[in-house]
Amino acid sequence: MNMRSSIVNTHQAAAWNGYEGAHWAAHADRYNAVNDAFNPFLLDAVRPGDRVLDIGCGTGRTTRLAARTAASALGVDLSGPMLATARELTGEGDVSYVRGDAQVHPFPDSSFDLALSRFGIMFFGDPVAAFANIGRALAPGGRLTFLSMRGYGDLAHVVAALGLPAGPPDAGPLSLGDPETVERVLTEAGFAGVVTRPVHAPQNWGADAADAAAFLGAWGPIRHQAGEGAAERLLPVLRAFETPDGVLLDGAALLVGAVRP
Ligand SMILES: C[S@@+](CC[C@H](N)C(=O)[O-])C[C@H]1O[C@@H](n2cnc3c(N)ncnc32)[C@H](O)[C@@H]1O
Repeated sequence: MNMRSSIVNTHQAAAWNGYEGAHWAAHADRYNAVNDAFNPFLLDAVRPGDRVLDIGCGTGRTTRLAARTAASALGVDLSGPMLATARELTGEGDVSYVRGDAQVHPFPDSSFDLALSRFGIMFFGDPVAAFANIGRALAPGGRLTFLSMRGYGDLAHVVAALGLPAGPPDAGPLSLGDPETVERVLTEAGFAGVVTRPVHAPQNWGADAADAAAFLGAWGPIRHQAGEGAAERLLPVLRAFETPDGVLLDGAALLVGAVRP
């Protein structure tokens, strides 16, 4: 009998099944416009024949893209609303989803060749336990690759304009932004050959400043901390980033690779 608890990250589960998850589910296209320029960094790792696990897959963009090359791709996520959207968005190849906490989910042992994640791995209460669980799901020689936030990038202007606390650099979404921390966590979790590389990419937050300001004002972390009226205060900041292709803010990420021995 499997005694592992099905959800241990209960606060994250509440957020991603509450406002935050509902907003991502309802605005999947916008969040993909924000994050899609990072996709090539992850998808470069996908090989034909791979059985891929997409951790914190959300609405499944990278799951579906990985399945175009891989033999199969399974997305795991805490969020019911985001997985409901993922399941509506059909794609090529063998794509499936499971609702669960990647930290403790009882994946069959050695059943994946590649675990990847686009910003879905920064929220574990116990990152060493979570990556050990993911490592157990990988076959020997299996690879891990993920993107984590390395800082706020141009979002720092948004944070400053709203007077938000920047938050500790080693917690929350920035918890795996530092190469030394990542190397320690992954090594303790049983991974080898950890490599990290700072990368950045343009993030498209809206068609113009008004559109981006309305969206950012309703984005969970800002709505929660800045309250009503954030959008008006962001307008002048975002005008400086308007381009013919939209409001492009530079995003900073850490690209991580490791191997399960
Ligand atoms: C920033 S979103 C990224 C979603 C998706 N990877 C994308 O790029 O659109 C973070 C995702 O991680 C998921 N998540 C957070 N903690 C998780 C956990 N312990 N197990 C599974 N999913 C988790 C959230 O539900 C959310 O979908």
